[in-house]
Amino acid sequence: VRFHSRWTITAQGSIDLSTFSRVREADSPTDLLAPFRPVPTGVHPPHLHEPYVASIKRAPQHALIAVPQGPSETLGPRFDWVKCSATCDMSTQGSKRALGQRIVVSGSLLDEDGRPQADQVIEIWQANAAGRYLHKIDQHDAPLDPNFSGAGIVRTDREGRFRFLTIKPGAYPWGNHHNAWRPAHIHFSLFGPSFSTRLVTQMYFPDDPLIPLDPIYNCTADENARKRLISSFDLDTGVPHEYLGFRFDMVLRGRKATPWENR
Ligand SMILES: [Fe+2]
Repeated sequence: VRFHSRWTITAQGSIDLSTFSRVREADSPTDLLAPFRPVPTGVHPPHLHEPYVASIKRAPQHALIAVPQGPSETLGPRFDWVKCSATCDMSTQGSKRALGQRIVVSGSLLDEDGRPQADQVIEIWQANAAGRYLHKIDQHDAPLDPNFSGAGIVRTDREGRFRFLTIKPGAYPWGNHHNAWRPAHIHFSLFGPSFSTRLVTQMYFPDDPLIPLDPIYNCTADENARKRLISSFDLDTGVPHEYLGFRFDMVLRGRKATPWENR
């Protein structure tokens, strides 16, 4: 109880035993017997991809060590206390609208059999329309937008759906090589049920000429898997006269798995 309730203690100052019982129910034998479906090679990016220069120093130089997982890794965090719905409006702060092309990014979170993943917390972060992050490390000479933070959070609905109302991010230069520019992209983080299940990826926009040149996009060797990182334009999922629509479905694993950076 002490381990799994760490979040509860931090957030509320007391141990919630009902939380503990719900967690145990989720660990039923049925869950443990879920079939394992191997992921084809080339779907998830390797630690080392030399054209992505930062990966050279970042990649482990020795074989990975399996760290035994205990309650701290497997029973949390829980996000019951996070007040968010399946829709997050990042395009308006208070009564003021952010600058740029307003878009809706929506989709579903599915497992390998197409089953929707309900009640899952998804976070995104992105640059503003000028290609600048609201972060002290980002010193790109482009304007910040006082009405746009670039961060959003949702909890998927019963059908595994999510929806962000946001601004199309701008491309930005980075120091990977001469005249390197990242294509417009949005970072996604899925927490899942525990610290050890967090998944991270990036979503791109269709018909962006920078995509084929991008070393990070090209970390994914499998061409079909790479293409799953590109959202699809979908006018029907936008808001008439206000927001263009882009769809981005994510699959946790299996043959149609989304490439995950930290798999
Ligand atoms: Fe980025």
